[in-house]
Amino acid sequence: MSFLADSLARVKPSATIAVTQKARDLKNAGRDIISLGAGEPDFDTPDNIKEAAIDAIRRGETKYPPVPGIVDLRQAISRKFQRENGLEYSPDQIIVGTGGKQVLYNAFVASLNPGDEVLIPAPYWVSYPAMVMLNGGEPVFVDTTLENGFKLMPADLEAAITPKTKWLLFNSPSNPSGAAYSADELKALADVLKRHPQVWVLTDDMYEHLLYTDEPFATLAQVEPALFGRTLTMNGVSKAYAMTGWRIGYAGGPDELIKAMTKIQSQQTSGTCTIAQWAAVEALNGPQHFIAERAAVFKERRDLVVSMLNQASGINCPVPEGAFYVYPSCAGLIGKTTPAGKRIETDEDFVTELLEAEGVAVVHGSAFGLGPNFRISYAAATEALEEACSRIQRFCNSLD
Ligand SMILES: Cc1ncc(COP(=O)(O)O)c(C=O)c1O
Repeated sequence: MSFLADSLARVKPSATIAVTQKARDLKNAGRDIISLGAGEPDFDTPDNIKEAAIDAIRRGETKYPPVPGIVDLRQAISRKFQRENGLEYSPDQIIVGTGGKQVLYNAFVASLNPGDEVLIPAPYWVSYPAMVMLNGGEPVFVDTTLENGFKLMPADLEAAITPKTKWLLFNSPSNPSGAAYSADELKALADVLKRHPQVWVLTDDMYEHLLYTDEPFATLAQVEPALFGRTLTMNGVSKAYAMTGWRIGYAGGPDELIKAMTKIQSQQTSGTCTIAQWAAVEALNGPQHFIAERAAVFKERRDLVVSMLNQASGINCPVPEGAFYVYPSCAGLIGKTTPAGKRIETDEDFVTELLEAEGVAVVHGSAFGLGPNFRISYAAATEALEEACSRIQRFCNSLD
């Protein structure tokens, strides 16, 4: 009998962190490595945000915070939801957590009973199934297709719902596919959800500001107010404000759920770092112009990467509408052999051999539940992306 909890056996370590670590180890060993595995902006946190944190330290804002978050931050979040999403969450309906990741996790701690099903469109962010399983739930994957832009189809959603379905865990723009849903597409999904009142929606809007379509961002509770009372709208400052290390995420939702999550947090962390919270106040209340400027840079990088990958033989790379990932198919390379004599049977073989031969670290699609594909994070310097894509082209051409 193992000393460790049984639930742990169901959970895999994060593949994206594993790839990033492997790339780091190879680099330390002297190899020339370009690492495109990690999902974090290469930009720095803006200075006004850093200064707000320093001011908070100087003012002595260094004591335990209120468990759901400091009032100033919950007010700033309430205004953000109003201003950007047309959603009316009062500060009492908002919780701040240690990254969006903890907010999601605690929503499951607060709501899942053994056997409860959580619908997860695939490909999905690697942490979703693990979070559900660690809390006794059953992830139910709903596959999407490259032809449909990796978007959940209303009929597939309808077919996946059972009496045990508790949540739809929804992410747009998506990590890893970059798929971003229009308001009309969301409305079509909302129409299905309206017929199933037992299903709640956990919408992960983390990549809201990394959107490259003409249409503005939309979120489910906004396009269908009938869902507002059973939606947890999650977001954070990590991606939009280049604040991954500050660990601030938040959600707005129904009072009962927010109270339950606060109860959990009271026994778990007592709340999030006060200094990081004051930095997030400045992020949300301060100047916003750099977000669009940085998104424009990401869009240029996306176009470069998509175009170069589509010139690599055997790769099919659709144009994603948001986030900072591309999710090309490598189906055309399965069954081929490398010059070193290794046969590529899976997308995991593809990324392993690519790293070995050319020193480019990317993540295999099977880690995100849909392959044969791979994910490239283009949150990296343009020259590094150009060089990485040239190496991928060379690698693909070398396969026989
Ligand atoms: C889809 C998605 N949701 C949530 C998160 C978590 O964000 P945070 O860094 O705020 O915990 C990430 C981070 O990679 C993500 O990709």
